[in-house]
Amino acid sequence: MTQSDIVLKADKIHKTFGQVEVLKGISLQARNHDVISILGSSGSGKSTFLRCLNFLETPTSGTVTLHGEEVVVRNGKPANPRQIEQLRKRLGMVFQQFNLWSHRTVIENVMEGPVIVKRETKADARDKAEALLQRVGLTERMNAYPSQLSGGQQQRVAIARALAMEPDVILFDEPTSALDPELVDEVLKVMQSLAGEGRTMILVTHEMGFAREVSSEVVFLHEGRVAEQGPPQEMFAHPKTEVFERFIAKVK
Ligand SMILES: Nc1ncnc2c1ncn2[C@@H]1O[C@H](COP(=O)(O)OP(=O)(O)OP(=O)(O)O)[C@@H](O)[C@H]1O
Ligand SMILES: [Mg+2]
Repeated sequence: MTQSDIVLKADKIHKTFGQVEVLKGISLQARNHDVISILGSSGSGKSTFLRCLNFLETPTSGTVTLHGEEVVVRNGKPANPRQIEQLRKRLGMVFQQFNLWSHRTVIENVMEGPVIVKRETKADARDKAEALLQRVGLTERMNAYPSQLSGGQQQRVAIARALAMEPDVILFDEPTSALDPELVDEVLKVMQSLAGEGRTMILVTHEMGFAREVSSEVVFLHEGRVAEQGPPQEMFAHPKTEVFERFIAKVK
């Protein structure tokens, strides 16, 4: 692996809330086209780690580097707000609860970032949004409001919205956990097709099938540490730690 293949790198990330150290030195490297699944039981620190990557939380210590540029932290805060703005432009985020604007239509949700943040013209942003909505199978619902859509449809809008920013990496935090079981597949299918086209993705998921079949690497967190990590086929076939073995036995 050459240095230049690495898009996003986290090095020895620690995060403490009050007296509690939730992350105890987590490192991860994402190369172009990697699909990294982060697994772990509830409370193991998955969301906190993902949020540290785009500075929704500031790591207590450790570094995040995007394309070789380290995010500068001083006195527990990002030193340069512009750098965070740049970082977030390049890291898309898809949340469990979709987080769409409820008073905006589907297409307006997708256009918002490019128009406001990237200063694209409305016409360009609209063209792109239409193409993306077609991509996620929602052309028909373009002018609906989020509350008029199913959870699976809303999550596909959220994915289109993330894609509209043309991010280098997309972070997903349990994108299917809030969905009724029959709606999970339509979202996973979109995610699988993104992986297939070579998008770099880091996702927290409880979908073991997806983690196993689609990801290039699995990272298993346990109590704020990486307990095990590697290629999924190998990890699932031969768990090295007792905690991971118990975890997969439980979620199967
Ligand atoms: N803002 C916060 N303030 C205090 N404690 C927090 C905060 N955010 C997270 N925690 C604590 O950090 C620990 C890890 O939380 P986190 O949300 O990262 O876990 P998770 O692995 O994503 O769990 P889940 O699978 O339930 O989503 C938990 O004990 C949680 O209570
Ligand atoms: Mg979480």
